[in-house]
Amino acid sequence: MDVTQLLTRLYSDEGRQDPYPCYAGLHELGPVSPVPARAEHRSVAAVAVGYDLVGQVLRDPEWYKQPPPGWQEQEVLRTLQTSMMFVNPPDHTRMRAVFAKTFTPRRLGALEPAVHRVVDGLLDRMADAGETGFDFVAEFAYPMPALVMAEFIGIPAGELDFYRQRVERIDEFLDVAGKTPQRLAAANTAAAELRDFYADLIAHRRRQPGEDLISGLVEAVDSGDVGLSADELVSNLIVLFNAAFVTTVYMFSNGLPLLLAHPDVAAALPGDDALARGTVDEILRLEAPVHFLARAAPRDTELGGVPVAGDENVLLIIAAANRDPARFPEPDRFDPRRPGPPSLAFGVGLHFCLGAAVSRLEGRLALPKLLARFPRLAVAEPPAYSGSLFLRGIDKLLVHTGGEAA
Ligand code: HEM
Repeated sequence: MDVTQLLTRLYSDEGRQDPYPCYAGLHELGPVSPVPARAEHRSVAAVAVGYDLVGQVLRDPEWYKQPPPGWQEQEVLRTLQTSMMFVNPPDHTRMRAVFAKTFTPRRLGALEPAVHRVVDGLLDRMADAGETGFDFVAEFAYPMPALVMAEFIGIPAGELDFYRQRVERIDEFLDVAGKTPQRLAAANTAAAELRDFYADLIAHRRRQPGEDLISGLVEAVDSGDVGLSADELVSNLIVLFNAAFVTTVYMFSNGLPLLLAHPDVAAALPGDDALARGTVDEILRLEAPVHFLARAAPRDTELGGVPVAGDENVLLIIAAANRDPARFPEPDRFDPRRPGPPSLAFGVGLHFCLGAAVSRLEGRLALPKLLARFPRLAVAEPPAYSGSLFLRGIDKLLVHTGGEAA
């Protein structure tokens, strides 16, 4: 198949459910393939799947993130485009520095007891659900990062349902196939509501500061010592939670079937911290929650021999790069003890995921506890995937516990 056929297949329902055969087909064509001028997928000049090449573009600060046309007129796009995730240096450097200062090892260390508390509470609920089947996503994968992030950022737990619905509307719009006028309108309303929500929360924390991230950031912004406006603070908080939430849900929901399909690993996980770390990274390599990134060329150039005109976008499929046979022998095999380069699941370069350590901590602590308490945990039905390639993951996963460990 040529690149146009492979992309058409990838965007079909079938491709969205299982994109990996399309990625293998793209690897056969080479590390980067030009998209022909008249192809329906010409919104990008080329598609890159080679691990080294994708990393090369992401590490090169000259390749940049292009804002969508007309972003100033849409509340949701205006919010995104005033956050570190979507801007380029020097604004990116300025905003990221403020947040990077608050993601200290001390704050991460302080989060550990909260992660344990959240995991234990959720496992108790799973035990109460008994041995009958229940949805692992609803009972564990979803609430786990939501509760941890609420604690980390400082969102009252009672507000989480309101918050979650707005986040979902923004994520639905961000999917490549999600940009309908209805979804845009829903995402605009959601962004406006989240802005109001944070404005209230910030005012509250200003009056009554706590130990959370918002209190720390409000104090820094009010002192005038950091280069972040009040408007940018709100945008960045919205994007931070969005970036932290569904990605980590999918780390758990995509990871569990992989783990249960390898009973030797699942059994060895409790009590083996090195294995737990390797397992989290291998889950993210094989079943990356984020599949697509894009960067625009700073000028007329070439990438792996493929010409790219200045300001044209290249699609960077990090989930395909993570299965590059040139870098990961037997790329489809789950092997948590595999040596080799780090995967690109958290990106690399300037925009490397700011919260990678938070998700890794959640996974490393939660998965061993889950399997220690429910050693006979089993998947009851084939999982249902989200159908999005922007954020790909299992939305529903029926399991039964098989009872608690003796
Ligand atoms: C398994 C879970 C996660 C995955 C797979 C993931 C993935 C990614 C990826 C691929 C990027 C790079 C985007 C780009 O280059 O365009 C990114 C950026 C980012 N992530 Fe994560 N992420 C996860 C969890 C988190 C968490 C828990 C947080 C917050 C606590 C977070 C906050 C961010 C932020 C703020 C950025 C933007 C950084 C910048 O632009 O400088 N992420 N993430």
